[in-house]
Amino acid sequence: MLFGRRNLCLIEVERESMRVAGRFNAQVMDHLRQFIQPGITTGEIDQLVLEYTRDHGHTPACLGYQGFPKSCCTSINEVICHGIPGNAVLEDGDIVNLDVTTVVDGWLGDQSETFLIGNVSEQARRLVQCAFDSLYLAIDAIGPGDPIVNIGRAISRKAHVLGYEVVREYVGHGIGKRFHQEPSIPHFPNQQSRFQKIDPGVCFTIEPMINEGVRDTVLDRDDGWTVRTRDGKLSAQFEHTILMTDEGPEILTLTETGPQCGHQF
Ligand code: MF3
Ligand code: CO
Ligand code: CO
Repeated sequence: MLFGRRNLCLIEVERESMRVAGRFNAQVMDHLRQFIQPGITTGEIDQLVLEYTRDHGHTPACLGYQGFPKSCCTSINEVICHGIPGNAVLEDGDIVNLDVTTVVDGWLGDQSETFLIGNVSEQARRLVQCAFDSLYLAIDAIGPGDPIVNIGRAISRKAHVLGYEVVREYVGHGIGKRFHQEPSIPHFPNQQSRFQKIDPGVCFTIEPMINEGVRDTVLDRDDGWTVRTRDGKLSAQFEHTILMTDEGPEILTLTETGPQCGHQF
């Protein structure tokens, strides 16, 4: 117990609640998919998230979270994460990450996808592919009782081979009845993750943010949320909520109509 803290292990009924929350969250993403096209504004996407979630009797976790003003995050091109939906119009050639988190009977599901809008450059497509592949490589690299560092190693290896960088300031996280809890899931190897293990019953996210250029981030001082790449180059991200079981990782936020493992963008 060198690094003392134990992660929250869920019992079976709680695991089932997380499965239900993850499944609904994925359903929101599947609902949005048809609308993500050139011409829609990020504010309109946010409205769709809010309406669909409420119509099903649930709550968007982002709305009001630490003062966040909207129901999801929309991060376009050089925005790494936490973009606030508003008047921005999606344009041909953009890449946009939609990050959706919902509360279902007190339990949370959290996932994100990067969408290609119309015809994007080969450069952008390759970056998105890397972010997607690195998420699945990380899921493949972690089993019950394994050290968290397996995740960061798998993601960093993939990114670096292709000449990309991995964001360090924002990481995956434990999730359950709270949005962000232990353990911290860095997408790069660090000391703590070498010692901390993921036991069966732990729920967490993996959400690598991969940058085309430097890994450094800049927080927008005006809105206090939007995080951009320091050099203004592109960033892409995918996220799943995962439950570790005795058999291995179970992805709770798999979509039905979205890109499946192995998908080529
Ligand atoms: N969904 C993000 C995550 O993956 C967190 C967004 S917090 C918000 O952890 F307040 F910006 F919505
Ligand atoms: Co998220
Ligand atoms: Co998350």
